[in-house]
Amino acid sequence: MLTRRDYLKQGVLAGCGLAVMGAQALLADPNPNLDARIGGRDSLKVHAHKYGRLAGCAVSAANLQDEAFKKVLTAQFSLVVAENAMKFGPVQPKPGVFNFEDADALVAFAERHNIKVRGHNFVWHEMLPAWFAGTVTKENAKRVLTEHILTVGGRYKGKIQSWDVVNEAIKVDDGRPDGLRKSPWFELIGPEYLEIAYRTARQADPRAKLTYNEYGIEDESDSAEKKRAATLALLKRLKASGTPLDALGIQSHISANTGAAFGKGLRELVNAAQAMGLEVYLTELDVNDDAVLDADEAVRDRVVAEVYRDFLNSALESKAVNAVLTWGLTDGHTWLNGMKSHKEKQPGRQQRPLPFDADYKPTPAFFAMRDAFDRSPSR
Ligand code: XIL
Repeated sequence: MLTRRDYLKQGVLAGCGLAVMGAQALLADPNPNLDARIGGRDSLKVHAHKYGRLAGCAVSAANLQDEAFKKVLTAQFSLVVAENAMKFGPVQPKPGVFNFEDADALVAFAERHNIKVRGHNFVWHEMLPAWFAGTVTKENAKRVLTEHILTVGGRYKGKIQSWDVVNEAIKVDDGRPDGLRKSPWFELIGPEYLEIAYRTARQADPRAKLTYNEYGIEDESDSAEKKRAATLALLKRLKASGTPLDALGIQSHISANTGAAFGKGLRELVNAAQAMGLEVYLTELDVNDDAVLDADEAVRDRVVAEVYRDFLNSALESKAVNAVLTWGLTDGHTWLNGMKSHKEKQPGRQQRPLPFDADYKPTPAFFAMRDAFDRSPSR
């Protein structure tokens, strides 16, 4: 068994592209102070609120059956989003037949506890129901899309802080000059599916902030740079055509092996969105730690926390960013453990990507997130 010091000496972290953080910084315990009071005025939501921001997380239907989860959720967060319950497949399991059970439960819970709700999502190429392919045609696709949005958006009208109207519409590798993904909705309706979705969403719930949500646009890699450019071009086209659009969601599924290179591109993205009059939310933050999964837990937690710190400090330089949500609350329930790439490389190993561990103890990422709120400019 390697000690943490041996591990760092071997330069494994540097090999994973984490040299920027400096082994010294990791060795010199940055006092994660895990025994500090974290509730009440020391909670994430209060620290976020001080600067005019919301702190949120994704919640599954199962999470709401868990008393410990609910206690931490209400103590720490001012915003929730359904991890899956509002997606097309779960919510419309048969044509024209809707199942709102899980989504209703989340919205009711949030109302009781004075927590705001994000809607996620109306349009996505994934999690479409099995009936979709055989039933939706070029002839009826616009009607299916608008009826879905009017029904789901209408049910929660006035109760949703922001709706992810379209999720992940850009895929540069699909080869189109406009960068649009050749998704089922695109193939059926053409590029105008976006404008139709946003106009219908505004009609369904005029007070919800209508959001475009995208991943892979956070770091300094070439692929992120290209995807950022295509995303901004899409947002500009939507704005120019008078499409109702209020916010950009930056998913923020980041990882501990990108060299922790966040900064210039992220700032430019946030500033460009702000210049278009958009709010910005970090909608699905988590740090995939596959690259350091062989290290001690304490080292992994610190690596993850440093990535949180680096990323959030860059993103929160701007007043435009007014919500930070993590994709899940505890390491005990993270979608990353189910990812194919993780299961192939690290079968049976658990990721530690979130601000609370599986026992609901705050991890160093919790403190990194709270500190980042404290360094952010007031809105
Ligand atoms: C994920 C959920 O966490 C999983 O439970 C589900 O199996 C697949 O979807 N980007 C998104 C989210 O916008 O909706 C995805 O959520 C994660 C990636």
